[in-house]
Amino acid sequence: MYTRQNQKNLTSSQRAKFVRAILKLKSKGIYDDFVRMHGRYYVSDGDTGLRVGHMAPTFFPWHRRLLLEFERQLQAVEPSVTLPYWDWTRDNSKTSSIWASDFLGGDGRASDGQVMTGPFAYSGGKWPISVGVTEEKYLTRQFGRPDRPIGLPTKAELDKAMQDPVYDTAPWNSTSSTRGFRNRLEGWTVGEAQGGLLHNRVHQWIGGHMTGATSPNDPVFWLHHAFIDLIWQRWQRMHPKSGYLPARTLAASDPEHGRVISFGEPMPPWNTKPSEVMDVQKIYRYEEY
Ligand code: CU
Ligand code: CU
Repeated sequence: MYTRQNQKNLTSSQRAKFVRAILKLKSKGIYDDFVRMHGRYYVSDGDTGLRVGHMAPTFFPWHRRLLLEFERQLQAVEPSVTLPYWDWTRDNSKTSSIWASDFLGGDGRASDGQVMTGPFAYSGGKWPISVGVTEEKYLTRQFGRPDRPIGLPTKAELDKAMQDPVYDTAPWNSTSSTRGFRNRLEGWTVGEAQGGLLHNRVHQWIGGHMTGATSPNDPVFWLHHAFIDLIWQRWQRMHPKSGYLPARTLAASDPEHGRVISFGEPMPPWNTKPSEVMDVQKIYRYEEY
């Protein structure tokens, strides 16, 4: 059992270790395997085939499994490292310590979005983008989406989504909007013009690589998703009687049959079922403050 901390409370030596571990995985090619995998499982409503990571009930358990795998790799190179989480409802400024030069580095420059500070700046030579959907070889960010400004989600917006006692609802995709904690949190219920809600809006607020299928190119991906994972845990505690849905395989007559994973079906590329990652108390806990 280990603890995942709020990133703002990491000591400078913990920050250094986390960065060092990430750079080691990058140099070994392991980091880019994760970027590639995330991109491969980015399937939208309009595509065909199984939706696993996004626009689907498995949004939470699939990312939980992905984070565990990544954390194991980090620990293989730096045994004391655990994934920190970023509470963007509180540390919501463009100058928060998360963006310091000894941690994730800051905003991209105005001309081309290139991140110029910190360990992941292209000029440092350790963070070339090799698995991208665009041409850039450098990491990009555009905090606040200057062309159509948006803010990070607020505590009030998060609290509102937490009230929904239903995990997810048909058609189990990006249009599940009337009810369902999963899509309220994932954030497709509000359009692109507003940057989406909660989880999606954070990707949009950071901008650059965080907006695409290869978003793990930006290491803040892991800190964002650790917070999403913590939010899911909080929701489970608030609604102990609300289980994962759909509980059973969808009927063959259901238009979403074969596209959505139910409670007891495996989530590729692993053989792990949502039912197996509902409770992670024996593996890790979040330090909440
Ligand atoms: Cu994702
Ligand atoms: Cu995400």
